[in-house]
Amino acid sequence: MNHIIETQQFNREWLENEFFPEVIKMKQRPKENSLNSLAGKEMISFFYEPSTRTRLSFELAMKRLGGQVVFSTENAKEFSSVAKGEIIEDTVRVLCGYGPDVIVLRTDQAGMAQRAADFSTVPIINAGDGDHQHPTQALTDIYTIYSERGRVDDTVIAMCGDLSRGRTVRSLAYLISKFSGIKIYFISPEAARMRDDIKEHLKENKIPFEEVADLREIASGVDVIYDTRIQEERGALLMKYGKTAFWTVNQEVMKMMKEDAIVMHPLPRLEEISPEVDDDARAAYFRQATNGLYVRMALLNMILG
Ligand code: NCD
Repeated sequence: MNHIIETQQFNREWLENEFFPEVIKMKQRPKENSLNSLAGKEMISFFYEPSTRTRLSFELAMKRLGGQVVFSTENAKEFSSVAKGEIIEDTVRVLCGYGPDVIVLRTDQAGMAQRAADFSTVPIINAGDGDHQHPTQALTDIYTIYSERGRVDDTVIAMCGDLSRGRTVRSLAYLISKFSGIKIYFISPEAARMRDDIKEHLKENKIPFEEVADLREIASGVDVIYDTRIQEERGALLMKYGKTAFWTVNQEVMKMMKEDAIVMHPLPRLEEISPEVDDDARAAYFRQATNGLYVRMALLNMILG
């Protein structure tokens, strides 16, 4: 069974030898269903939280490969039995009983994707579980670094924003630690620092990291700025954190950055990336979002094809 639950499950060899080539294959194929490799396969996309990119790109990916989306909701908390208090284990058993080939699941609590996988008879893809992980976003992110820079090794990356609640930075930190020559800067409000589990993992894997107070201190030396928003729906209050100024990417920061550095963001962005930098070729976040489609096509093809 090929569940995708957290990024620790992947290794470098798989990323480089199987995953990246499959994404490139998906990117290069014409839009028509020339592969049609998932004909007859069915996806359920069951989201307890809002989503634009993740749900849409998964469903589009399924359709582009000739498969079907048989049920989709991003309001599972209101419009499914979850609203009546059904636990994830029961929901998953019922969904599996209908015989889909894959379930894409976004939940609002850490660990729920694993709980679902423990009871599922079909692959579960974690599309974000609370403040824990978002593995397919991190796979999109690592592929974007690879495609923009030509390699992942020797990347100095600044991870900024809500590092304690943001699941994408957590998943990316695990994934990038599989490469060499990596250095990570963490820039966040005091109350939103990267949690100890990730820091311990980086130490064990001998990945140097440093917490710095202001993005502008290190902007000239980084290859990637990975910005994130404050996760207000997870209880993070911007008021409490004060202004985002010290990790805002604006013209001032772009002027400091290297010519070949890039700015990434899982989106949605709020004020932490000023729209004035969108037209700069180094602003990679919309290309990153597009990559998310090809990454999800590649994953579905590898799991179900
Ligand atoms: C992210 C998420 O859901 O964690 N969004 C996404 O899937 N691209 C980031 C966020 O919501 O801040």
